[in-house]
Amino acid sequence: MERAVSGVRSKRVPGERDKATTVLSMVGLPARGKTYIGRRVARYLSWLGHPTRVFNVGSYRRRQIGASQPADFFAPTNKEGRQVLHDLAMTALDDMLAWLREGGEVGIFDATNSTKERRRFVEERCRKEGLPVVFIESFCNDPAVIEANVRDTKLKSPDYVDMDPDAAAQDFLRRIAHYESMYETLDDPNQSYIKIIDVGRQVILNRIHGYLPARLAPLLIDLHVSPRPIWLTRHGQSAYNQHGRIGGDPELSPAGEEYAKHLAEFVRKNAKRDQEVAVWTSTLRRTIQTATKITRSPRTWRALDEIDAGVCDGMTYDQVRIEMPDVWAARSADKFRYRYPRGESYEDVIQRLDPLIIQLERQRSPTLVIAHQAVLRSIYAYLMDRPPGECPSISVPLHTVIQLTPTAYGCEEKRFALPPHVEDQGAGG
Ligand code: SIN
Repeated sequence: MERAVSGVRSKRVPGERDKATTVLSMVGLPARGKTYIGRRVARYLSWLGHPTRVFNVGSYRRRQIGASQPADFFAPTNKEGRQVLHDLAMTALDDMLAWLREGGEVGIFDATNSTKERRRFVEERCRKEGLPVVFIESFCNDPAVIEANVRDTKLKSPDYVDMDPDAAAQDFLRRIAHYESMYETLDDPNQSYIKIIDVGRQVILNRIHGYLPARLAPLLIDLHVSPRPIWLTRHGQSAYNQHGRIGGDPELSPAGEEYAKHLAEFVRKNAKRDQEVAVWTSTLRRTIQTATKITRSPRTWRALDEIDAGVCDGMTYDQVRIEMPDVWAARSADKFRYRYPRGESYEDVIQRLDPLIIQLERQRSPTLVIAHQAVLRSIYAYLMDRPPGECPSISVPLHTVIQLTPTAYGCEEKRFALPPHVEDQGAGG
């Protein structure tokens, strides 16, 4: 029987709906986490469907004049050095503007931009292109934060490759001192800026208007780099998984219940003794049942419910292929943007996961997320900085814990296949 339901394909390209071309210009002394913040913002906006790219002036310097420039190269008294740095910054800025002209949506200009004069220059250049500029400053004088940043990122940077760590630290501190001697913090009431003081102790928003810049504030308020594992797992095998059916609200199969026990053991073994583990599930029975051996009261999120398969809910993929060939063909052609009739697309799933991602960024303790295939693919794409269009092909097998540990510039991944092994029929859930 062929059902008369036509496919619904969202016509817009991801990002087009709210396209608001914007320049975000970082501000801050070296070792204040500008690059970290810029990359996190880029990852977040790209995931939400706004093509975003970081243009890092340090990388231009390394490529064009070599990595190992001594601290005095950056001194305000070194006129030649200042000119070279200015020219490099302008090249990066021009490349960013060209990229935005070609269809990019958010350009992140990652440089110290430490003087008012430089910032006016950036604004002027962008204004000529009709582009708004929002400055994002990381202001921090906490020696512990700066020291950790120098140790964890700067001394591993290509600027100090093969150099004795003490000599490298001395040189870098001298470089910072040069920048400090000319640094001017953001305080122009007419400029649009977000100023993050001491890693979020205080956040000042000045003239922040519009959908996109306003969306950044919740993310920036809580960014931190405390190492903690994020465990992603699908629920244990469900009665629907056994028969390759999608959607529904089935219970766990006996194999699924056994997985729940192994998962509880995994969490006990891998969480440090004094750590409280946050357990998050969807509102569907199979995820809550998977959590029961760990906690009777997980935090349930509707945002974690599986992609809504609409009129296909409860069917097998074979049924969809035979009974709804239009739906099958349209979804196969663009699995990311295809919206099930009266259901959702992956793109929709990402939008509803946004508040959960902000909450996940806030977490300082280990977090176990027990959810569903499409939803976990979407979360994984965010954490691992994969293009959202790749979501439908990310592997998230049953009875596997994916451990992602955020680091300064990404996440470390480990996968643990737990017993019992079950056949994965590929159908979501
Ligand atoms: C760098 O060369 O590392 C950054 C230059 C700057 O933004 O001042």
